[in-house]
Parts: sequence; C-alpha cells; structure tokens
Amino acid sequence: MALMLLLGACLVVSVVGVSAPRSRAWESSSSSLSFATQEPRCYLDPRFNPTYEMHYNTDVLWQIPESPRGVMYLAHGRFLDIFSFFDRSPGCERCYGLPEDRAIVLDALDRKYAVIVVKSLGDEWDSWPIETSKDKVVVTSIVTDWVMEHGLDELPMVGFGYSSGGNFTSMLSPILGMKSIVILDSPGVYEILENADASYPPTLYFYMPKDPFFTSQILRNVELMKSRGVKVEHVPMLEFPIILEFFALRNPCISNETSRSIFRALLNAKLLDENNLVTISPWEFDYNSWIEENDLLSGCIPHTCLSEQVVQELNIAFAFHSMSSTKNDIMFDWFESSLESEVVNPMLSNV
Ligand SMILES: *[C@@H]1O[C@H](CO)[C@@H](O)[C@H](O)[C@H]1NC(C)=O
Ligand SMILES: *[C@@H]1O[C@H](CO)[C@@H](O)[C@H](O)[C@H]1NC(C)=O
Repeated sequence: MALMLLLGACLVVSVVGVSAPRSRAWESSSSSLSFATQEPRCYLDPRFNPTYEMHYNTDVLWQIPESPRGVMYLAHGRFLDIFSFFDRSPGCERCYGLPEDRAIVLDALDRKYAVIVVKSLGDEWDSWPIETSKDKVVVTSIVTDWVMEHGLDELPMVGFGYSSGGNFTSMLSPILGMKSIVILDSPGVYEILENADASYPPTLYFYMPKDPFFTSQILRNVELMKSRGVKVEHVPMLEFPIILEFFALRNPCISNETSRSIFRALLNAKLLDENNLVTISPWEFDYNSWIEENDLLSGCIPHTCLSEQVVQELNIAFAFHSMSSTKNDIMFDWFESSLESEVVNPMLSNV
C-alpha cells in the first residue's frame, strides 16, 4: 500500500507562495507544474544515451558503452517501470532518472557493461511456475535477440533484480546463462533454489535487516543454496544517519541549501532522531505530501517530482525496503570476481 504513496507522488501539486523564500537547485519559476519550457539541466547527465524500443508490446531500454566487457540485465520492482533507470535524453523522452536507479546504471556503464532493462508485463513479475511465465518467454526472447543483434553474445552476462524483480532474476539467470547475480530485497524463488546445484549463478543477496520477513526468507535461502553447492553471499544494508547535505550529495537537482532546510525540518518534526536516523518508515508516512505542505521543495521534471526523489533517499537511510545503490562497489566487485574466474586473460594466452 505504501508503494502507492510513492506512485502518488507526482500527483501532488503544490501552489508556490510568491513571497516565501525558497531555495532551489535551479532557477525557480512561479509554478511548480512543469518544466516543459524550462528544463533543469541538473538531471540530464550526458553519460546517458539510451535507446528505447518496444518488443512484444513491452518497453525496453538499453545502452551499450564503448568496448563493453559484459552485459548487465536489470529487473525493476513491483509497480515500477524502466524509465527511472535513465535520465531524460533524446533517446528517451519518458525517462526520469530516480537517484538510486540511475546511479546503478551509471556505474554499470562506467564499468563497461552494456545495460538492458525490460518492463514486466504485469505490475509484478510472473516468476513461478516457469512453464506459464509469459515474462520469461518475452524477456528471454528480447535479451537473446538484442545480444545477437549487437554482437554481445560472446560477452558474459550478469543480472540485478530488486524485490519482485529479484525473484524474476533468480528464475531467469540460469535460463540466460548469467555468470553472476545480485538480488536486492527479495528471497528469490524458493522452488528454483531448492533444486539449484553448483552450476547456479553465484548469487549475492543485499537485504535490509529491518524487514524481518524478507530477512528470514533470504537467510534461509542462503543456507539452502550453500548446502546445494551454490556460491552465495549476503550483505546487509543498514540504516544510517543523514547529514545536512545528504540530499544534495545524492541528487544533482538539489542544492546544499535545500538539503539543509529539509534536514532541519525533519529534525524539528522528529522525523529524524537525535542520532539523525529516520524515525518513521517512508512506507508508513507520506513524506511526499509532508515535503510539499512544508514548502521545502517542489518542482517536477517530466514524469517525476523532486519530493519523490527525496523520498527515495529517505528510504535508503531508513533501510526497510528500497532500491539502493549504496553498495554498488560490492555489487560490481562481486560480478567481477565471478567473471575473472571464468574468463581467460587474452594477454596471458599470448605469452
Ligand atoms: C518471491 O517469491 C517468493 C516465493 O518463492 C514469495 O514468497 C515472495 O513474496 C516473492 N517476493 C517478491 C518480492 O515478489
Ligand atoms: C555541498 O556540501 C558538500 C559537503 O557536504 C561540499 O563538499 C560541497 O562542496 C558543497 N557544494 C557546494 C556547491 O557548496
């Protein structure tokens, strides 16, 4: 249900008081309705250059860096879509880069992975039973055709899935022959893992211990997979204190000044405790409306409002259930360690 709060974010339209002093990361307009004629440059990172395609009646976005060393498949969460992974760009007018999602793609591109994201057919991924999963059929075809078409079929493939997308990735990864996967906030499909063997892709779980339900399922599955010879690790994502410039540090659309006023307002409202930890889960409190009502931040770039982006950052600090790029280094090191044990270094074979 709290997901609906996130989704509802952009429906919140605030009226901006003309005289109220406000801090913004870009030139303020007198209306927060739209930036159609006044695009903020902050969220148009030139490193994004995705291609949008529609296949089998579903949305696909991909980007291939120069000299790719691998392919990274990404699966979004329940009720979410693929447009949060890339900034708005000529190839994708509907993209609206959410800070955590886009950070994963930017790091993937920096590390020379060709990236592909496909929208699930329904609101959540249809992962089980495999035989009846339409998502399996569609994503397998799309990804397989795409790697062939772009000459990526010899490259190793890795996968990342969040929440419902984590379940789907746990199912899809052996089918697509992925070399390594990372699953965030999801136990994976039990029925598949209980039959896995040492050939199953090395799996790294990120989990949030504040969510006891998923945590117990994930830890149970880790033990199960270990007992079956699967290479598997788990890394907790813990709550952490917010600092004054936190929102600006993670989001190029937010100034330090704005970040500090949000911080102070949270503290005054006891939404931060004396250790600067977020006190109430963003799944249980409508921070979006609170931000707007307190005149802390308004403004929408097409398809997203900045308050929604702040909520994503509150979510990672609270660490109950959230897309998160806070452990990207560990994720990509995990991929690389799996790939290194596979790939023969061509420099060495020439010696
Ligand atoms: C993942 O699949 C399990 C069943 O194996 C299910 O209990 C769980 O709710 C699913 N999780 C998500 C996030 O869809
Ligand atoms: C914003 O604050 C951070 C410290 O938290 C600092 O490193 C950075 O230079 C500041 N940016 C500006 C534009 O003042």
